[in-house]
Amino acid sequence: MLKPSYPYYLANRAVAANADLDVLDKYSGRRATRVALADAATVRAAIAAAHQARAALAAFPPDARRDVLEHCVRRFGERHEELALALCIEAGKPIRDARGEVTRLIDTFRIAAGEATRIDGEVVELQISERSRGYRGLTRRVPVGVCGFITPFNFPLNLVAHKVAPAIAAGCPFVLKPSERTPVGALIIGEVLAETDLPAGAFSILPCSNDDAAPLVEDERIALLSFTGGLVGWELKARAGRKKVVLELGGNAACIVDADPGRPLEEVVARLLTGAYYQSGQSCIGVQRIYVHASLYEPLQRQLAAAVARLRMGDPREEEVFIGPMIDTAAAQRVERWIAAAVAGGARLLAGGPRQGNLLPAALLEHVPHDSDLYRREAFGPVALLEPFDDFDAVLAQVNGSDFGLQAGVFTGNLAHALRAWDRLEVGGVIVGDIPSFRVDNMPYGGVKGSGLGREGVRYAIAEMTEPRLLVLRS
Ligand code: SIN
Repeated sequence: MLKPSYPYYLANRAVAANADLDVLDKYSGRRATRVALADAATVRAAIAAAHQARAALAAFPPDARRDVLEHCVRRFGERHEELALALCIEAGKPIRDARGEVTRLIDTFRIAAGEATRIDGEVVELQISERSRGYRGLTRRVPVGVCGFITPFNFPLNLVAHKVAPAIAAGCPFVLKPSERTPVGALIIGEVLAETDLPAGAFSILPCSNDDAAPLVEDERIALLSFTGGLVGWELKARAGRKKVVLELGGNAACIVDADPGRPLEEVVARLLTGAYYQSGQSCIGVQRIYVHASLYEPLQRQLAAAVARLRMGDPREEEVFIGPMIDTAAAQRVERWIAAAVAGGARLLAGGPRQGNLLPAALLEHVPHDSDLYRREAFGPVALLEPFDDFDAVLAQVNGSDFGLQAGVFTGNLAHALRAWDRLEVGGVIVGDIPSFRVDNMPYGGVKGSGLGREGVRYAIAEMTEPRLLVLRS
């Protein structure tokens, strides 16, 4: 159960300033809890406190940072089921997916605990000519300073963890704005961080409106802005001044099933089913475009359509439910409209059904026009499209014919094809033998083209949150 209300965290302290933000149970539509809502003045106060805390954080020793992160690992483990239920209620995430996300939250903090004492520098050979004889160079990585974080609704714990845990490991104070629709997971992380001896001002977690979060984007005391969400990230970057900016944006991820997929077809179908429809497709790396070699198209289409039609939709608290609610009715209506427009343009619906409020049955289509929203844009819903191909090089070009480039999946038993995909696909990651939705929390994660800038994945996020400081010694 959720508590009746949650405070926000300002400069490490719980503040029950008000209870102005209603958080809805996404399945019932009823209010599940109330959360304190910050205003722009509070966001500015948090930035000021974080700015003051920079030196204390930089001097907070690596083993102490590790201890903070290990405390979180322990406490999240103890509160595993409570956290899973919170996700299930506030995000409508099916309970099995919600438990999986809590496990990943713990992984992410555990990885960061390990990295906290491994932020090394290097020796730089400076004696490259007579001019620099007797000089030595050394670098170490120093924290960039205050980080501003903005996170989305679809992974209310783990996408927060991917910013917060590396910041603690790196020694950066931060101010986080979680999604207003799913703030509870982040606030429970705040509750656990408040149990630690992080220096005063090290963290603030402030649910607030996008307008009130403007200082996170514009205030020059913030050294790095890290945003996960939609294409609006590019607009934030344009307003961010001299800050470093990391953007983890969306995609319309593709998966190729080659003539020799390298795995049994039933397994490929099962993985595509998961990749396209887990948490109702509300993942940046959810499978949206499936390209299947013509020799396998008919059996794969038949098996996948039958499997999609069998997916159980309903109350995300029920263990067997796979399709829970989308985040709101407007999101479900948009995807429904895109499906209808594709069908009007000549697509064929192989599976799908009528929307019930914010519950949208899983849909599968073929012959989707290439100029449709469903093909070109990020659907972020329980829908995928199938398309046959004959030529592997041509299908690589087709995958690249997208404004996005986050991850791509390639089922192939052909090593030359696997390597060619890795060479040519314009994405942040190529997953051979599985779906593009595969992610382990220590791998570099991020996109190219419209999908973003920079990388997360703890060690890679720490690299973004630190910079090398050089020492030159003349002997
Ligand atoms: C995302 O939606 O960008 C996150 C996907 C994941 O962490 O699995």
